[in-house]
Amino acid sequence: MQAFVNFFYLAAAVLFILGIKGMTKPKTAVRGNQLSALGMGLAVLAALLDFHVVSYGTIIIGILAGGAAGVYMARKVQMTSVPEMVALLNGLGGGASLLVAAANYLESQQLSGMGQFDPTVEWSVAVILSILVGAVTLTGSLVAVGKLMGKVDDPKDIRNYKLGVKASFALLFVGTLTLVMGDTLNSGVLLTLMILLCLVLGVCLVMPIGGADMPVVVSLLNSYSGIAGAAAGFVLGNNGLIITGSLVGASGLILTSIMCKAMNRSLVNVLFGGSMAAAAGISKSENDAFYEGKVKFASADEVAMMLETAKRVVFVPGYGLAVAQAQHATRELASLLESAGAKVKYAIHPVAGRMPGHMNVLLAEAEVPYDQLVEMDTINPEFPQTDVAIVLGANDVVNPVAAKDKNSPIYGMPILEVYNARTVIVVKRGLSPGFAGIPNELFIRENTLMVPGDAKKVLQDVIKALREG
Ligand code: TAP
Repeated sequence: MQAFVNFFYLAAAVLFILGIKGMTKPKTAVRGNQLSALGMGLAVLAALLDFHVVSYGTIIIGILAGGAAGVYMARKVQMTSVPEMVALLNGLGGGASLLVAAANYLESQQLSGMGQFDPTVEWSVAVILSILVGAVTLTGSLVAVGKLMGKVDDPKDIRNYKLGVKASFALLFVGTLTLVMGDTLNSGVLLTLMILLCLVLGVCLVMPIGGADMPVVVSLLNSYSGIAGAAAGFVLGNNGLIITGSLVGASGLILTSIMCKAMNRSLVNVLFGGSMAAAAGISKSENDAFYEGKVKFASADEVAMMLETAKRVVFVPGYGLAVAQAQHATRELASLLESAGAKVKYAIHPVAGRMPGHMNVLLAEAEVPYDQLVEMDTINPEFPQTDVAIVLGANDVVNPVAAKDKNSPIYGMPILEVYNARTVIVVKRGLSPGFAGIPNELFIRENTLMVPGDAKKVLQDVIKALREG
């Protein structure tokens, strides 16, 4: 039976790897998701066949309750709230690892009291790691959910939290040494204190990080939940959990590093640098002075006239497109232009929006053909041949300052070089800055025209003007 169980775990691991590979491209993402779900189904089946199972009744109740909650959440959650849901799931994963390891620890205490179990140092380390990382993931994720929902504000003074992190690490180091080396693994009180300390550490680690950096934090916490799961796998001697946890841990770390690289920021800067907009320190009056008398505006009717003769059009979506929920209007305008003979593409920056793949997901919702979504490195050489580039609620990802101002917080971040297009239309509500909190030099360029307003409303007006001809 054990060989059978291990074979199922191996098959599940293969399906997970194929699933992750599938999810790297929009075209194969749905299939990737299905393969991963099948893998998870196999892993659950293997765990149920495993000899550790004591009672099936409780497990079936758990599966039904968890499955119902999962289906309800997946159906109800809005596309813009997916980061919150992912963060919550990470937290629950960490909490589950914590509970599994703690339950195992309590059981081992009883067994070692009867002389039937002799905990090794490796086993003790796995228990502690699973509990510690699981607890940090749980409370850290809950704070991240609060920030993403706008219910938890960034603190004005982050010094106390930094102090909390240092003190917690110091106390945890001493506690861990005492537990592992001091032959006191049966010290339940010490372990409880350490769990509480880790719950506090999770809060202190995430609270000072700027709300807008939460996607990076969620990805990192995702990796933590994998590490906690893998450690719980070592505690239980469950190969499936070890493999799955390691895959989640590694992929979360890779995604975190991709995001930091695309923003040209180090992880240390994201985690301990405080809010980026606050660091830029540009006041509203300085921002307004930057644009004073230098911006050219256009109306929806004028944009429609320009588009009537355009042969090549590139849409450049950003965070504002998600706020305005303008993806369907964008697709409608694109179809209209295509039917008039224009060639349309969409330029995708790796960190446009607020979560990985944000723009891909939004545009997929509006059924934009995948082959029209073009990544930054491929589309940049095409801008000089583009008649009109329409920037929809994007700001930082098209700011030319990133390439030349060494003092800029976005210096070095690769950008979409829309300024090379013949005409650039920028649609946003006003002249307020984006995530990085800095003015955008693109908006005062010779070939840029700004159309003030909500992206969806402006696009609908342009469509109306084009239809009325
Ligand atoms: P941002 O630079 O944040 O700019 C978004 C712009 O959208 C704002 O300037 C805003 O201007 C406009 N806007 C808001 N609501 C709008 C609406 N209803 N209609 C039209 N425009 C609207 O966005 P971006 O260019 O996508 O850049 C993303 C930023 O987030 C980067 O700095 C990136 O480093 C950071 N970031 C991204 C991620 C990921 S994984 N994507 C993770 C962490 C951080 P108005 O208020 O004037 O309209």
